[in-house]
Amino acid sequence: MDLSINGQSKALPDAAVDPAMPLLWVLRDVLNLTGTKFGCGVAACGACTVHVDGQPTRSCVTPLSAVAGKAVVTIEALGSAAQPHALQRAWLAHQVPQCGYCQSGMLMAAAALLAKNAEPSDADIDAAITNICRCGTYPRIREAIKTAARELQPLAARRKATGAKA
Ligand code: FES
Ligand code: FES
Repeated sequence: MDLSINGQSKALPDAAVDPAMPLLWVLRDVLNLTGTKFGCGVAACGACTVHVDGQPTRSCVTPLSAVAGKAVVTIEALGSAAQPHALQRAWLAHQVPQCGYCQSGMLMAAAALLAKNAEPSDADIDAAITNICRCGTYPRIREAIKTAARELQPLAARRKATGAKA
């Protein structure tokens, strides 16, 4: 089967995958995209969050068959060391990560939120991001999201004015 991953189409060898295999297994064990983490395996913690057609999705409980024909984006494509996403810059500025384990899922959930809501309140953030951080980084995450939102707002306004897609 072909998988659309981070803007590229990848042919997955039939011998290595099964349609029922969780997407997280495919990402980590078949494609070697290990930025997405395994935490609970039961859709509770959000460490495995990726985007599927722009929606934050818990890849540990998403079978490969469910993403056929859909665009999957992982933390590896959110930004790069040379060109970090505004959220990644804000994460550094606010020194958000502690152990770091939950953070790729947090960032993907935050990116999906900002794509829909350019100026989220604390309540919006708490409602949208149900990921768990055992290190308790929630207050810094809220502040970092608001910092990134302020940076992205002029861009979002320009896109709205020109009708361009995010
Ligand atoms: S590993 Fe998927 S939600 Fe915890
Ligand atoms: S930074 Fe350690 S679990 Fe979130």
